[in-house]
Amino acid sequence: MQELFVEGGKRLCGELTIQGSKNGVLPILAATIVCAGECRLGNCPRLRDVDASIAILRHLGCCTRWEGDTLIVDTTHMDGTEVPDALMSEMRSSVIFLGAILARQGEAVLSYPGGCELGPRPIDMHLSALRALGAEIAERSGTLRCQAKVLTAAELVLPLPSVGATENAILAACGADGTTVIYNAAREPEIGELQDFLNAMGAQVRGAGSSIVTVSGKRPLHGGTHRVVADRIVAATYLCAAAGCGGDVRITGVDYRQLATVTGALAEAGCAVESEECAVHLRSEGRLRSIRPVRTAPYPGFPTDAQPALMAALLRAAGSTVFVENIFENRYRHAGELARLGADVRIAGRVAVVSGVDALHGASVRCTDLRGGAALVLAGLQAEGTTRVSLLAHIDRGYVSIERDLTLLGAQIERKEQP
Ligand code: EPZ
Repeated sequence: MQELFVEGGKRLCGELTIQGSKNGVLPILAATIVCAGECRLGNCPRLRDVDASIAILRHLGCCTRWEGDTLIVDTTHMDGTEVPDALMSEMRSSVIFLGAILARQGEAVLSYPGGCELGPRPIDMHLSALRALGAEIAERSGTLRCQAKVLTAAELVLPLPSVGATENAILAACGADGTTVIYNAAREPEIGELQDFLNAMGAQVRGAGSSIVTVSGKRPLHGGTHRVVADRIVAATYLCAAAGCGGDVRITGVDYRQLATVTGALAEAGCAVESEECAVHLRSEGRLRSIRPVRTAPYPGFPTDAQPALMAALLRAAGSTVFVENIFENRYRHAGELARLGADVRIAGRVAVVSGVDALHGASVRCTDLRGGAALVLAGLQAEGTTRVSLLAHIDRGYVSIERDLTLLGAQIERKEQP
């Protein structure tokens, strides 16, 4: 088992280019199967979740290979329609393949994606959208059997601006006759990136980034080339790391506008933040102050994925900060592990109150989920002494190498094999 050994007390200084986006590339990997051809994805991050998607693509009969940081996916000979339970359980967001398989093959069989560390992860909106497009979906003993010999454009209204449901609807609509309109679509940047990729394949998707997305389906498609954009949540993680430790960092390759709610919170906490076209420069004295309540919300609101990192940055701030987690039911599991480092985080349902303490002290902690695990590392960077972080598979789902990145910024952090 691998563990990270984090030596606290170091300021973070330097410049770092951010990896490609996990949540950007995952729907794009599913989108590659919408047509037969070869797609080239540059700046593709080597992550556990990308590996899980590659396994699904290969199981479906696609070929994949790496050329440096470019992942090449050839879907010409795709012949499968089923994603087995073993592959579904590796990554619950594999449900994103459903719409694309239906668009390509007209049928699909997936096991029902279970909940995850963040709570039940229903897919009712995914299924409603696909049914509205003409799919017949039978849910029996944990398996989804989907038939869609003909997909027909429809007007879809999402009850919530679900990211995954928006992406699944767009992918299925690519195979539907006519123009589909998706109302109350998610506005996350990842929807815009999916639109860009699909249009590079010859699709006609419009409106991504707004609440109304239209898809003109059944267009002649071909393989496409795309460069995966920088991961805004990884960028937010490292900005929060520097804010909490103190330092002077410049995070490059990112669209500062995608980070506005995070950099706004860090500026309110006392950091000096300068946004440039493709970079964010942050300076912090390391002793932050509490800020107004942080309410997570769909984009462009404060991103739920950055909630654990901001919480970690505020663990030693003067005063108390209230968090309200409005997206997921169970996204404070990292709070118990933070308490082992001496943090004062009180939870009541969707509300967390973080009261700053004078000092954190190193301890052994276990990752509970992807972003909660990253928050434990950020807390360890502030703690006196050594913090050992285990169950790193959670972190490796979304960070190519959190220890390499933070070491480049001056942290003392090492990954070791433990018996
Ligand atoms: C995506 O998850 C991201 N994952 C999540 O990032 C992110 O936290 C989330 O969007 C919100 O921004 C990927 O892109 C792979 P949702 P997704 O559908 O699509 C409820 C990370 O750490 N809902 O927008 O699953 C759902 O339960 C991950 O990188 C339904 O009720 O999120 C949740 O409460 C974590 N029915 C809310 O909507 C549905 O059919 C938002 O979920 C679908 C969702």
